[in-house]
Amino acid sequence: MIRRIGYVQTEPVFGRVRDNVDRAIAMASSVDADLLVFPELFNTGYLFESRREVEDLAEPADGRTFRSLSAFASETSTAVVAGFAERGEGGKIYNSAMMIDETGDLRWVYRKTHLFDREKIWFDPGDTGFSVVELAGIRVGVMICFDWIFPESARVLALGGAQVLAHPANLVLPYAQTAMLTRSVENRVFTVTANRVGSDERPFGSISFTGRSQVTSPGMEVLVMGPRDRPHASAVEVDPSEADDKSITERNDLFSDRRVEFYGALVG
Ligand code: ACM
Repeated sequence: MIRRIGYVQTEPVFGRVRDNVDRAIAMASSVDADLLVFPELFNTGYLFESRREVEDLAEPADGRTFRSLSAFASETSTAVVAGFAERGEGGKIYNSAMMIDETGDLRWVYRKTHLFDREKIWFDPGDTGFSVVELAGIRVGVMICFDWIFPESARVLALGGAQVLAHPANLVLPYAQTAMLTRSVENRVFTVTANRVGSDERPFGSISFTGRSQVTSPGMEVLVMGPRDRPHASAVEVDPSEADDKSITERNDLFSDRRVEFYGALVG
């Protein structure tokens, strides 16, 4: 079954949540897709001054950002994975991604496992672990930005049956786009990295993001890539079932060839 999967590469303005959501949805509306991935923290921006500032901008998973995305999803029959600052229970704040199916239902919320740099000040560490959810007839696993540098993230999702890794990102280092090609081939999955562009310029400092959102294939191809410096939204046709074939040669299967008896140090 052919599916169209893609990304919405946005340029949020720090703290302007309503505008950021409305502009991202307007961009998404120009793309014919079954699954669209939006960047990490796409509604708030990234460079917070303090945990207090994140608390002020954070929303519960069923908040206004969800309601806007849900309306878009149901009106266009497009499943969405989107990063946001989540106000959880007991005063906890997470760097999260919501998974909304093509009818607009919230199916799951992933909370980022591996926090990057100052995120350790702003957010609580994610407590969900990794799960695979069916969206628009595709088995989708979600990981957020810096999770890419831990190959275990993608591997756990692939072992859980993911055909597509949805990867909301706010990338500041130049490595992830290339590394995600490796994540694709070493797990034989599709990946969709949705990165942002522009800078967050704050009175205490600034940070710039690297664009080049992309879709990659199990055959280690870049199927589409966005520009480095401009908003962009795109989707490509894929057959997600290609990711179910883990054979490399007649005698090699990616999963059954693993020698887990020698991998103990990975979980030690
Ligand atoms: C990152 O994880 N946002 C670099």
